[in-house]
Amino acid sequence: MLRFLIGLSSVVLISGLFNPLLPSIGDYMLTESQIKTFFSTGNKDLALGTCNSVPFASAQAGFASAVGLPSTTTWRNADVLTNATISMIDQGIDQLASVCAARQLFVQTLGFTYDTCIDRFYLISLGNTNWWNVMQYTHLMKHLEFICSTGFDVYQNNIDCIRKGETTDGNQYRACFYKFNATVNANPNRFCDATESFIGCIGDFFTQECNPYVGWMQCELERIGFAYDCYGLKC
Ligand SMILES: *[C@@H]1O[C@H](CO)[C@@H](O)[C@H](O)[C@H]1NC(C)=O
Ligand SMILES: *[C@@H]1O[C@H](CO)[C@@H](O)[C@H](O)[C@H]1NC(C)=O
Repeated sequence: MLRFLIGLSSVVLISGLFNPLLPSIGDYMLTESQIKTFFSTGNKDLALGTCNSVPFASAQAGFASAVGLPSTTTWRNADVLTNATISMIDQGIDQLASVCAARQLFVQTLGFTYDTCIDRFYLISLGNTNWWNVMQYTHLMKHLEFICSTGFDVYQNNIDCIRKGETTDGNQYRACFYKFNATVNANPNRFCDATESFIGCIGDFFTQECNPYVGWMQCELERIGFAYDCYGLKC
């Protein structure tokens, strides 16, 4: 029954949200088994660290409340968390700042255990989950890490043209993802090459759409999600 529910919940967002403010795992159009294959090659050391369940629970409750969800929402509901976070960020820079404040508190609560608590291998080891969910969660946290630090000022100054990647010029933006999907499926054993072209495509799109800073930032935002399994990617 649980397995069925997990399978079902991953189908809901399978087509992707294609939100240029916050990538989500559905955007890559990968199957659950492709996600497992491509996102499980990297270093497993972090999973050996410590994540204490009590502070982890309280950190998660705080974050969930901050994005308007019941405080019982956890990493096991990664699609729902991602969706709520995107909905909030979409409302404007003030809401992005609130999400970042909540993320800051989340990190402070976990302290040195933060990296392990959001590590994909650690979360998989807790059981009753799948790679889709775990990668959705890990990507959410990793992307917020960047958006809330290096990316914040660039977002603040360019929010309108970045949003055009979702609205007016959404087809061009999404073309990078469709090309990625076609490349990966044509040549599954060259996933990292496909990734390199993909992040370049995103960078070129936003350089034209906005300026080179945004091009770099959006490329970097995507790079972060792949960097643990594809080494040497550059923007
Ligand atoms: C995602 O968020 C939108 C807007 O808040 C909501 O209508 C939709 O039901 C949500 N979907 C999921 C899977 O949480
Ligand atoms: C991804 O590419 C495969 C192979 O070309 C294709 O069958 C599939 O429909 C594509 N997925 C989407 C969501 O377009």
